[in-house]
Amino acid sequence: MIPWVLLACALPCAADPLLAAFARRDFQKGSPQLICSMPGPQGPPGPPGPPGPSGMVGRMGFPGKDGQDGQDGDRGESGEEGSPGRTGNRGKPGPKGKAGAIGRAGPRGPKGVSGAPGKHGIPGKKGPKGKKGEPGLPGPCSCGSTHAKSAFSVAVTKSYPRERLPIKFDKILMNEGGHYNASSGKFVCGVPGIYYFTYDITLANKHLAIGLVHNGQYRIRTFDANTGNHDVASGSTILALRQGDEVWLQIFYSEQNGLFYDPYWTDSLFTGFLIYADQDSPSEV
Ligand SMILES: *[C@@H]1O[C@H](CO)[C@@H](O)[C@H](O)[C@H]1NC(C)=O
Repeated sequence: MIPWVLLACALPCAADPLLAAFARRDFQKGSPQLICSMPGPQGPPGPPGPPGPSGMVGRMGFPGKDGQDGQDGDRGESGEEGSPGRTGNRGKPGPKGKAGAIGRAGPRGPKGVSGAPGKHGIPGKKGPKGKKGEPGLPGPCSCGSTHAKSAFSVAVTKSYPRERLPIKFDKILMNEGGHYNASSGKFVCGVPGIYYFTYDITLANKHLAIGLVHNGQYRIRTFDANTGNHDVASGSTILALRQGDEVWLQIFYSEQNGLFYDPYWTDSLFTGFLIYADQDSPSEV
């Protein structure tokens, strides 16, 4: 209560400027009691008053600065497939590919024009020796001359010849003058004159009835009976022959053809030769 009293007492004193100046010069605050009475010493500060009522809401401040960028959000789901784009420009040609497999042959073409004949080839090798030819025809007559020659000696190579046909002695041991014909089995006179003929014939297993024929006529005949082993039948004679006369041997009876060919033990021979030529017909043929 005291401070309020002091305040009411001091108010009329404030009108006096002299006192006010004095108070300001000699006293500090709380010195107006100099006017009315002696002021007491200053009291201790009072306790803080209760908080005042809230003030009016102030004006809105200026917008703050932008904050820092936030972190990236999670990846979103894939969107739907878009429609195909337009066809692009044509690309450059690619590198050349490998050669393909050889195709099948095409159809046969038409025949071409014949070419020019080729060169002559190399002569071929010499061929094998040919077969021996048949004897030639009797040469011209040289009757009476010292050069007249005619002689032969021939053998068989087969057994049991056919009857009543010239026996073919086809193994030639000698044929001087070439007047014996091995193909026919006949001697053909090339030099007219006197001739000697002989034969030695082996037989076996059969009898042998053989004769010498001159121009189709038997001149001599011989018979040899088979005795169970080899045997040799023989015969000989002399004949006067003219140019072209034929002389041969043949079997003169059926089944008596025991002529036997045995190259290991014995031969069967037919032989003839000119003894001397005719002298009265040197120019004949
Ligand atoms: C030998 O005889 C054969 C058969 O008869 C005949 O064809 C041929 O002409 C004769 N050869 C000669 C040189 O007379």
